[in-house]
Amino acid sequence: MIGIEVQGKKLVLFNVSGKFYAIDGICSHAGGHLWEGRLINETTVKCPRHGSEYDVRTGKVLRGPWIPFGKAHDLRAYPVIEDGEELFMDL
Ligand code: FES
Repeated sequence: MIGIEVQGKKLVLFNVSGKFYAIDGICSHAGGHLWEGRLINETTVKCPRHGSEYDVRTGKVLRGPWIPFGKAHDLRAYPVIEDGEELFMDL
């Protein structure tokens, strides 16, 4: 995974078995940078701040933060279209 900025949006781009996915890069709980997190399996990214987990294909919250305040909400997912060696996203 890598963090990218497209038209002023901070996103995270994932390569899952050769297919690309992009979701918002800022955690909905308290602004953690997901590109600084880690993949805990092929399709789940864990926020580096309080551990919320998101499905990299859909942006859905799979597990909320480990701290007792605040909730994480689903992130927006952006379709990624491959064209040769170029990637395009529908923002
Ligand atoms: S900022 Fe991501 S879990 Fe708190």
